[in-house]
Amino acid sequence: MNYKHLLKSKKYKIGIWGTGYIGLSTMVYFSKKNIKCVGFDINKEKVRKINSGVIPLKDLEKWFGFNIKKMVKNGSLKATTNPNDLISEKFIAHFIAVPTEKDGKPYYKPLMSVLNNIAKIGNKKTKVPPLVIVESTLAPKVSDKKILPFLKRKKLQIGKNILFSVAPRRDWFIEGVKNLENLDRVYGSTDNYSAKVTKDILSIVCKKLHIASSYKVSEMVKSVENAYRHMDITLANQLSVAFPKDNMREVLQLVGTKWNLETFHPGIGAGGYCIPLSSRYVLSQIKNSNKLTLLRETIKTDDNMGSIIANSIAKKKLKKIGILGLSYKGDLKVSVLSKVIPLVKSLKKKKLNVKLFDPYFTKEEIKKATGVETFKFPSQLRKFDCIIISVNHRQFRISPNRLKKYVKNCKLIVDHEGAWQNYRLADNYYLTGAGGWL
Ligand SMILES: NC(=O)c1ccc[n+]([C@@H]2O[C@H](COP(=O)([O-])OP(=O)(O)OC[C@H]3O[C@@H](n4cnc5c(N)ncnc54)[C@H](O)[C@@H]3O)[C@@H](O)[C@H]2O)c1
Repeated sequence: MNYKHLLKSKKYKIGIWGTGYIGLSTMVYFSKKNIKCVGFDINKEKVRKINSGVIPLKDLEKWFGFNIKKMVKNGSLKATTNPNDLISEKFIAHFIAVPTEKDGKPYYKPLMSVLNNIAKIGNKKTKVPPLVIVESTLAPKVSDKKILPFLKRKKLQIGKNILFSVAPRRDWFIEGVKNLENLDRVYGSTDNYSAKVTKDILSIVCKKLHIASSYKVSEMVKSVENAYRHMDITLANQLSVAFPKDNMREVLQLVGTKWNLETFHPGIGAGGYCIPLSSRYVLSQIKNSNKLTLLRETIKTDDNMGSIIANSIAKKKLKKIGILGLSYKGDLKVSVLSKVIPLVKSLKKKKLNVKLFDPYFTKEEIKKATGVETFKFPSQLRKFDCIIISVNHRQFRISPNRLKKYVKNCKLIVDHEGAWQNYRLADNYYLTGAGGWL
């Protein structure tokens, strides 16, 4: 049975569980190829927006580079708050894209609730068993410890009346070219037939597929690739802390010119869904963390960056701190595990007066995430004796002459991603990692 042909015939559909960054992008890319997709989400507002042709995540609109109105109109893209809408023989593929993290720890309640819904398909014999593809990030071994035993308890025969694969995502929702079509995609399955069907389906959209020998391998790839990155980023930070007077940013830039190395620049720590969690995901599955001391140290050092920066600012006797950016990445409204949150906490612990502005967040959202008030940008920048630019949001890059008026009395400007690096500000301006920033 060729699932690609079945889907192209439009008699069959794809069900997507969770319509956030990952799920919505899956829906949109398959719909673009004229495949019928229905997304289920518990968030009514998201569902309403999708069905009215509006992308609920503004930043995704830029990333897609096209809108979804046409797809909604021609019936290939739909969303629902009723999980039963996805439970029928017409749905021959189910992509799971719900959150698998809460408060910095692996969290599988939404995933198990989705599996519970999918299991309602029952164990009928069918020529076209549905394929479940987990796109959500899983800690190593979760399929064996949770997912597959659950499906077996529901009397589903894996490889017979349900097919199963793990195919993690690597998208970079900032650069449009790093998307589902163009990025290398790894997948692994429970059996050969699941693997064949996964290839049939993913190849409708993804150009570069890499098959793993099993779902256990593809599951581990996601955490391990990010744990590597976590360690590399943290080593850059630790080097800068160890040599605070030297320009470690420049050293590392030049280190990155070596053929087998990448450039990592020091900063305020690693944030977001993937990197800071990866080392925890790997460690969560081993009994003795002494066997992976590098990852243990990575977490400890990374989590300590806020406190190191706050100590250094307090030592310089700076009192009024203005932070630009809550998101963990520029031009994106995502504050999940943003390192700004622990940084604000450490600054407050030092009894410093902290305010934060981020154009993507309301004053209520800023208060809820960090406990501090916002300020008017750029006019109120003049109130601060220290400014930390944590992300490179486009809105922060106002004209240099205008900016200079507001920051002329500021004693220290620390810039994580170089938003103002070409502005020729005075000697008090430092890129993170430049000699003297700490
Ligand atoms: N965003 C990324 O850059 C990225 C990259 C790779 C992997 N991932 C992984 O993909 C998964 C999803 O991430 P995301 O960025 O799309 O998250 P998100 O928060 O943008 O979206 C998750 C969606 O799932 C919905 N949801 C929550 N519980 C649900 C339930 N029980 N049933 C149905 N829907 C439910 C939420 O309402 C939300 O719309 C996570 O495991 C994440 O680690 C994310």
